[in-house]
Amino acid sequence: MANIDLPIRDSFGSKLGVVAATAGSAVGLGNIWRFPYVAGENGGGAFLLIYLCFVFAIGFPVMLAEFTIGRRAQRNALGSFKKLAPGKPWYLIGLMGIVAAFMILAFYSTIAGWTLEYLVQASLNGFDGKTTDQLTRSFEIFQSGSFRPVLWQLVFMFLTAFIIYKGVKNGIEKYTKILMPLLVVLIIIICIRSLTLEGAKDGLDFLFRPDFSKIKLNVILIALGQAAFSLSIGMGTLITYGSYIQKDNNLPVTALQVSTADTVIAILAGVMIFPAVFAFNINPAEGPGLVFIVLPNIFEQMAGGYFFSILFFILLAIAALTSTVSVLEVVVAYFSEELNMSRSRATVIAAAAISIVGIFATLSFGPLSKALIFGKTIFEWFDYLSANILLPLGAILIVLFVGWYLGKKNVRDELSNRGELKGKFVSTFMVIVKFIAPIAITMAFIYGLGLIG
Ligand code: TRP
Repeated sequence: MANIDLPIRDSFGSKLGVVAATAGSAVGLGNIWRFPYVAGENGGGAFLLIYLCFVFAIGFPVMLAEFTIGRRAQRNALGSFKKLAPGKPWYLIGLMGIVAAFMILAFYSTIAGWTLEYLVQASLNGFDGKTTDQLTRSFEIFQSGSFRPVLWQLVFMFLTAFIIYKGVKNGIEKYTKILMPLLVVLIIIICIRSLTLEGAKDGLDFLFRPDFSKIKLNVILIALGQAAFSLSIGMGTLITYGSYIQKDNNLPVTALQVSTADTVIAILAGVMIFPAVFAFNINPAEGPGLVFIVLPNIFEQMAGGYFFSILFFILLAIAALTSTVSVLEVVVAYFSEELNMSRSRATVIAAAAISIVGIFATLSFGPLSKALIFGKTIFEWFDYLSANILLPLGAILIVLFVGWYLGKKNVRDELSNRGELKGKFVSTFMVIVKFIAPIAITMAFIYGLGLIG
């Protein structure tokens, strides 16, 4: 049975709360861990430029499309399609989102676990007096272990489940409002230290001077995947959050604020990392370990480094937490609304199932590092499939749904808050979701997967 007579749904309490929770979802390890390492592997400046185009030309409209669906339907990611398009196969988008949520959370919680290990290391003054080589070495030893990485991953999943269990307003919203601004301040402080290191300029050149000769065609898809991942689009997270947004919220303004904040923080993370990468002679294409090797080096060189390192890893863990929460919420909202489970039961089942899958991702750096499937580890497959395939595919289908199925009248109604706002941009938005975004994403796919070109 569909839930026609649901009791009053939980929702966000204020406009600030909406922005905080949504930005909390968007801003996370995607910005601070994934962006620098992916940009580092894919040429720096030219990657950044393509990434920026994708964020604003495609990411922002997709975000708005997801908000529109969720707020209109007032349901979870799958139920929203069932409600707006009864009897049609559009709900499969929601199902794909659930699969993506499993994969993303499985590998994301690995890295989130690393932040906890580094928090402990920072508290024990573990970076002090170590050379770059020693810091690299101790990262590699930790990462390739089994017990500690898995333990921290499970701790992190437990924290995520705990917040979800507490509900939307008293869980997600309460924590993000205070902590996100603090993270930004701290990143800026670390940026300043990084920029004043000897040799910092090469890092800025790497990040801001596009060198298109370094660009291979697959970089286009990787930049699109990173944009989708960082903005939390394509999976139904923002449909689910959209369903908690009040009817008088100005959705386009919210989406623009969130996309901009997310992008600014990714760039700041780049400014924090790359000058130090070059100053300490670290390879920018180091891979997923990049920030965990670079940051301790910066702290080691910083006045008050002990204090700042602890604070930083606390905030990074929290930024990750406000993102993992938004992924788990997709699954829990689906289980509880569509499968009629209680919220607590849904939380326990979803978190336990994802944790089991996640252990395989974590062990990919150690005991399973040789278990390659077509040249990639399990971790790499989860990361690649979700960010570069499922999210862009989800994004295409979502915009097509809004453009061709939901239609202009409904979209105008929702985006203008039933005529209260002018909604002048609705026609432009419709052109983007009907034509530009689907065509652009499809092209990125075709080129990126090497199908032609
Ligand atoms: N955007 C988050 C980050 O950058 C991760 C995330 C949260 C996410 N929810 C998502 C990614 C939904 C894709 C889809 O850290």
